[in-house]
Amino acid sequence: MHLKTIYLCKECGYESSKWLGKCPTCDAWNSFIEDVIQTGPKSTLSKTPRSMKIAAKEVSSLSKPSKNTTKLTTGIEEFDRVIGNGFTPGSLTLLSGEPGIGKSTLTLQLANKIARNYKVLLVSGEESIDQIAERSIRLGFDEKNLVAINEYNLEVILETMRKENPVFVIIDSVQVIASLDIPSQAGSINQVRYCTEAILELAKTSNITTMLIGHVTKDGTLAGPRVLEHLVDTVISLEGDRYQHFRMLRASKNRFGNCSEVGIFEMTEKGLTEVKNPSKQFLEGRIENAIGSAITVAMEGTRPFLVEVQALVSTTHFGYPKRTANGFDLNRLQILIAILEKYGKLNLQNQDIFINVVGGIRLDEPAADLALLIAIASSYFKKPIPNNTIIFGEAGLSGELRKVPHNEKRLKEAQKLGFQTIISSEKFKRVIEAINF
Ligand code: TYD
Ligand code: MG
Repeated sequence: MHLKTIYLCKECGYESSKWLGKCPTCDAWNSFIEDVIQTGPKSTLSKTPRSMKIAAKEVSSLSKPSKNTTKLTTGIEEFDRVIGNGFTPGSLTLLSGEPGIGKSTLTLQLANKIARNYKVLLVSGEESIDQIAERSIRLGFDEKNLVAINEYNLEVILETMRKENPVFVIIDSVQVIASLDIPSQAGSINQVRYCTEAILELAKTSNITTMLIGHVTKDGTLAGPRVLEHLVDTVISLEGDRYQHFRMLRASKNRFGNCSEVGIFEMTEKGLTEVKNPSKQFLEGRIENAIGSAITVAMEGTRPFLVEVQALVSTTHFGYPKRTANGFDLNRLQILIAILEKYGKLNLQNQDIFINVVGGIRLDEPAADLALLIAIASSYFKKPIPNNTIIFGEAGLSGELRKVPHNEKRLKEAQKLGFQTIISSEKFKRVIEAINF
C-alpha cells in the first residue's frame, strides 16, 4: 500500500496531482487543499470479461412506489414545510450552517419531537452525552425514545445504527467523523465524502431517515458541505446573523419537495422557536418618523414579510466615499447609488453611505431596490418617510421602475399590518418620481 498526496478543490471536489490557484471546473480561487489517498495495484476485475453472461435487470413501474412513503413529520411547522411536509423515509438530509448558528439546538429539538413516536439516535462527535443531556433537559425535553452516543469513528457509528435500528438518526457533524479505511484526517474532502457515502448506503438499505450536520466556515479549513450536495437528497441551511436572534431555514436542494419555502425561527433561551408572524416581529423596536428608515415587503418563497431598511448618508471627510451594506449586496448598492446620482439628481460623490437591513435579515430581491433608494434619499435630504408607508419595486439602469412578482400578496401583507401609503412600481414609473413622492 502506498500513500499519495493529492489536492482537492474544497468547493467542488475536483482532484489534481498538484496545487492549483484556480479550480478549472468551478473557477474558485485558492480552494485547493492537500489530502492523502491510498494507491495500490489496480484490480484486475474492473473490466467485465467478454465471456461473462450479463442478465437484464428487472424494470419497475413508476405509478406506485414500492416502499412506504408516509412522511416523517416533526410537528415543527416551519421546519416540516421547508423539507417538503416532513422527511421522506430513508432519505439523507444535510443541514449546513456556520458554527454557532444553532444547528445542534435545532436538531436536538427535532430529535425530541420525533422521539415522541419513534426511536431516534443522536450521534455526536462534538459534544459529550452530559452536555447534550443538560441542554435537552434545559429545553424541557425528556423523551425515552431518544438515545445518544458520543462517537466519531464511522465503523462504530454504522454498527450502532444497525444494532439500534432507529427510525431517525442525527449525525453531528460530518466533519468530525472518520473512517479507519481512509488515511486522511477527519474533515478532509476524502473522509467527508467516504463517510457520507457509507451513511447514505445504510440509510437507503435499512430505511433509516438520516440527517447530517455540516459546518460551513469562511476560511475553509474543513471540507465545505458543497462537496456533499450531489450525494444527499436534501440540502437545507440555517442562516442568519450570529449576533441577532432571527434564523432562516432554506432548502437549496430537495429531491422530495420544492425549494422555495423558508422557515423563520428566533433563537431564545428556550431554543429555536417558530416565528409565525415575521412582519410584526421584524418591525419591533422601530422608531416612528426616523430619517433614512424605509419599510419594504420582501418575499421569502411564497411568504411576504415586512422588513425595515436603514440608510445613513454622511459627508466623507477623508479619501474615497465609503459604501457599506449589512444584509444587502454591495454591488447592487453601488448600482443603486449610480441610479440615484444620474436619475435622482443626488450628489453622492462626497457622501459615505451605510445600509443596514434590520434583524440580521438578508435582502436579495430586486424588489427591495426602491426601499433602499428612498431610504438613502431620506437620509440625504434629512426628510423622514411618513410612518405608514410601504415601499417596493425594482429599479432599472435607465432610471425606470419595474414591476415585481407577487404584487397582490405584498399589498395584502402591508394592509394587514396597517400600512396605507404604497410607493411601488405599480404607482410610479420612474425613480425620480418615486423619491420625490
Ligand atoms: P448551537 O446549536 O450549539 O450551534 P451550532 O451547532 O450551529 O454550532 O447553538 C449555538 C448558540 O445558540 C449558542 O451560542 C447559544 C445559543 N443558544 C440559545 O441562545 N438558546 C438555547 O436554548 C440554546 C440551546 C442555545
Ligand atoms: Mg453544534
